[in-house]
Amino acid sequence: MEKILVTGGCGQIGSELVSALRGKFGNENVILTDINVPNYEVQEIGPWEILDVTSYESIKAIIKKFEPTRIFHMAAILSATGEKIPQTAFKINLLGTFNVLEIAREFGVRQVIVPSTIAAFGPETPKINTPNETVMRPNTMYGITKVSIELLGEYYAKNYKIDFRSLRYPGIISSDVKPGGGTTDYANALYFDAAAKKKSIVFVNPQTTLPFMFMPDALDSIIQLSEAPQENLVHRSFNVAAFSCTALEIAESVKKYVPNFQFDFVPDHRDKIAASWPQSIDDSVARKEWNWRHKYDLDGMTRGMLKNLNVISG
Ligand SMILES: NC(=O)c1ccc[n+]([C@@H]2O[C@H](COP(=O)([O-])OP(=O)(O)OC[C@H]3O[C@@H](n4cnc5c(N)ncnc54)[C@H](O)[C@@H]3O)[C@@H](O)[C@H]2O)c1
Repeated sequence: MEKILVTGGCGQIGSELVSALRGKFGNENVILTDINVPNYEVQEIGPWEILDVTSYESIKAIIKKFEPTRIFHMAAILSATGEKIPQTAFKINLLGTFNVLEIAREFGVRQVIVPSTIAAFGPETPKINTPNETVMRPNTMYGITKVSIELLGEYYAKNYKIDFRSLRYPGIISSDVKPGGGTTDYANALYFDAAAKKKSIVFVNPQTTLPFMFMPDALDSIIQLSEAPQENLVHRSFNVAAFSCTALEIAESVKKYVPNFQFDFVPDHRDKIAASWPQSIDDSVARKEWNWRHKYDLDGMTRGMLKNLNVISG
């Protein structure tokens, strides 16, 4: 029987991942942990614990209590917040992951899944159809910690036989929990602002182009990767993609369904971070090794978001 521990389980992806994993493995077999307390309804559904991943002893106590077979390590500080508090981002992202891997080694946790990101690439990386293997010289603390995490995980896999797997997410768009300080937050905000009948001020250039993915695809990809037969995997860190678009294309996609939606572009320092990232991603390695297929394009995502936010019906 699998027992799964999720760190960062109150976050944008972690919260929906916990629900998806509980649907698959049973509420009792998925332990939600986070430095924050989950809301009351979530507390009622299944086991949860307060956990700060920078504390080795706290992780150890929870691993001893629940004896998980797999960890989905989602706790992190994202790109934009990471540039405000780089020292904290280093501790939570890199030392937090080191703690998780060390405890997995000590207590024989079979598998550790840690999302990476397109922010692991940098200004010298080819920006169009960025390959799985290429130059990785990011210039944000977030990106630096994520490249290091990929390498650290691969080291633990090679030397300690921990089944480490990682996927480089693009910007993830979802409606349940607002995003936590990333550079792609403007895209989520366009939908939330449309739902709140508010003018959206977009903090990047209209032509800023990035890869994106709708949450159902983000959940499918991480669960599929975790379940892929080991013998099919040559790599441990994978590009994953769905579609790429400009900020203006997202705004126009919303406006197609909400004709009176107003938006404006006021680029700030986050546009520079976006400019250092790939515009499109080649994920053929993931498609070949674990059969990754996305389901949502921009229009499908817009309809899904606006339905979830009760802006359109159907
Ligand atoms: N959301 C995206 O667009 C995106 C894109 C690429 C990669 N990722 C990666 O996916 C993972 C999850 O991202 P997310 O969007 O859910 O982030 P988020 O900011 O929404 O959630 C992170 C969670 O970690 C928790 N946390 C922070 N410090 C902690 C600590 N010291 N100990 C324990 N928990 C702590 C926070 O309370 C929060 O609930 C991260 O590794 C992130 O780098 C996200």
